[in-house]
Amino acid sequence: MFLTKEEQEMCDGEYGETIRKSMDILVALGDIYGASKLVDITSAQVSGVSYKTIGEAGLEYLQDLARDESAKASVNASLNPPGTDLDNWKELGFPEYFAVKQNDIVDAYGDLGIAKTCTCTPYLVGNVPRFRDHISWSESSAVAYGNSVIGARTNREGGPAALAAAIVGKTPLYGFHLDENRNANLVVNVSCELQGADFGALGYIIGKAVGGGVPYFKMQNAPSNNNLKTLGAALASSGSVALYHVEDVTPEANLISVGEIEDIMFISEKEINETRKSLTTTDKEIDLVCLGCPHASLEEIKEVANIVEGKTIKNKLWICTSVSVKATADRMGYTQIIESAGGNVVCDTCMVVAPIEEMGFEVIGVNSAKAANYVPSMCGLDVVYDDTENLIRFE
Ligand code: F3S
Repeated sequence: MFLTKEEQEMCDGEYGETIRKSMDILVALGDIYGASKLVDITSAQVSGVSYKTIGEAGLEYLQDLARDESAKASVNASLNPPGTDLDNWKELGFPEYFAVKQNDIVDAYGDLGIAKTCTCTPYLVGNVPRFRDHISWSESSAVAYGNSVIGARTNREGGPAALAAAIVGKTPLYGFHLDENRNANLVVNVSCELQGADFGALGYIIGKAVGGGVPYFKMQNAPSNNNLKTLGAALASSGSVALYHVEDVTPEANLISVGEIEDIMFISEKEINETRKSLTTTDKEIDLVCLGCPHASLEEIKEVANIVEGKTIKNKLWICTSVSVKATADRMGYTQIIESAGGNVVCDTCMVVAPIEEMGFEVIGVNSAKAANYVPSMCGLDVVYDDTENLIRFE
């Protein structure tokens, strides 16, 4: 891979140890994937934040990097969800040993100049690239949204590669950074109108079918941004989709010659309904309804507030979101409505990266196919998959 004189000096350690280690990661990646050079990025989003996933070894690695005070993020960079609500972990019942370690991890990232905006929806809270910007994002649903809905360019980066890119401000030029890899290779004709959890079911079916390919959807009704984040999260979890197009909706869709694509799938109401049912793993009662996968937008919190206003919720309810979105929900009075009904707006974390299996829950109600896919495998708990209004039970 071609390196400029400055990049070579970074590799040689002339800019400090953390930058040298970061360049090692980027150059190794570029060599593996045949990148011709590094390209400047405008944004990074770094995963590998939960103590549940990176553990003690990850914490020590980050604290070691952070000791080098000359190494800081050189672009707009933010964090993926950690395993706790960083401020309200005690009230919500998170284990103390876990919360203390979790805050140490986030502090180490903060020392490296990564904003402690802990969310998988950075595009809702100020880490928003422009069309065609090169970026380095690592949370798979955020990657799908950034590539597909915004039209920025990123591969599905691992946490260490995104952190290295945040510090150096560059990433290897390969994969979805190149125009020729952004064409679709599967056309999906959806014959029914979709709403709510249908979008997750569609993403789950197509992710499995296409793996790491690029699907092109023809839909009967235009999805909202919230529907697109649900769709992308599901595509990225049952498959490894990083980019999709929706006819007349996403910015690169109309640049593609669909007629040349030979693989075509037809999806009807029958497949959507069967998949919705198959994502539920139990007929037991739900202990915890956990919404916000990917993290809830203000509109989604408002919808929940409308559903629960003036009522008393029987099962526990968490709506996971970022601190920034919750701050606005607080001002709008949505948080108070939800809390009065017995629910919580939970910041930073989510049902997959939090240690919910240690908190006494057994059955989780979710409206996200990504969560329905991961909660059984990563937390060992059962799930019920449905639309929000069908999950919440009242006294
Ligand atoms: Fe976000 Fe957690 Fe879902 S990181 S996409 S809420 S699994």
